[in-house]
Amino acid sequence: MDHLLPVEILEAGHAFPQALAACGDLDALLRLKGAYVGREGSHAARLMELLKGAPKEQKRDLGAAINALKQQWEEGLKARQAELEAAKKNLNALASSWDPSLPPPVPARGALHPLNRLMDRLVEVFRPLGFHVEEGPEIETEAHNFDGLNIPEDHPAKASSDTFYLAAHPELLLRTHTSPVQVRTLLRVAPSLERHGGIRFLAPGRVYRKDEIDPTHSPMFHQVEGMLVGHDIGMQHLKGTLEYALRALFGPHTEIRLRPSYFPFVEPGCEVDVSCPLCDAKGCRVCKGSGWVEILGAGLLHPNVLRYAGIDPEEWSGWAFGMGVERMAMMLSQTPDLRLFFENDQRFLKAMGGLD
Ligand code: DAH
Repeated sequence: MDHLLPVEILEAGHAFPQALAACGDLDALLRLKGAYVGREGSHAARLMELLKGAPKEQKRDLGAAINALKQQWEEGLKARQAELEAAKKNLNALASSWDPSLPPPVPARGALHPLNRLMDRLVEVFRPLGFHVEEGPEIETEAHNFDGLNIPEDHPAKASSDTFYLAAHPELLLRTHTSPVQVRTLLRVAPSLERHGGIRFLAPGRVYRKDEIDPTHSPMFHQVEGMLVGHDIGMQHLKGTLEYALRALFGPHTEIRLRPSYFPFVEPGCEVDVSCPLCDAKGCRVCKGSGWVEILGAGLLHPNVLRYAGIDPEEWSGWAFGMGVERMAMMLSQTPDLRLFFENDQRFLKAMGGLD
């Protein structure tokens, strides 16, 4: 049937889809509509005239061809009009909700992890007492992690069932506590110990043990080690310092209690409890009704620890302590599951006050 239509109309028909897509707004669409299906001077109007003047026997076929073409144009125009109207509506909505005089939205800010904040707090509590921060590597030697700490060859902690040894370097391991920082620091400062009048430091950091993950265990956790070396240091200094620090952390009414305990690197050794800060020692779930919670291990430096670093235990003495950071954080925030600290769910971190 197309042979009945003039060439310029056929060309206009081919060009229609592209012309339609090129209409960027309703005005352009209106102009296109006029050109194709307008009452006068349009392609459609010309086709109607053509139909009028056509010989009788052509009228049926020609009429069908013209109708098909007109319908195609009209449908295309209608669909494009709907599209352009919707786009205009969106743009209007956007324009009416956008107030350029308002300040831009504040981007979400990151924050320190709650465990890092707690370690920072500990460092700040000890800083006025002259303690600085020491660090050590997480991959340690057996010598620093065990031998220098007077830990005997047959101690169970040395077993490969408890400690991660490096497969390619069996003499290296992931440190099982922050205590090797004691050994490293003593070895380093031994020659200048007299000149500095001793040493005091805190060593916060990550430690590793072969533990299955459960609500109270993780193969990776954090400790803070504390150490002081000086002349004529005794248990009274340890107790006084811990009382000061733990009161700064848990509140001025906090009491502390020392219970004898055994660690190879201290003698005497003790475990230190604080009066439960959550129930004021009245007895609650956290302190299991006892009013006390165990918070750290401590003691006076074993002479062998000083000797290993070439320091004369007749002349120098000191104390050390080590505390578990997750344990303390769990107690303070009453978080029942250690794993929450490592999953980094933003809702948990926000609840811990880290994120705003
Ligand atoms: N290193 C011990 C542990 O991981 C904790 C500890 C106890 C550290 C007594 C000390 C200390 O410095 O004196 O269980």
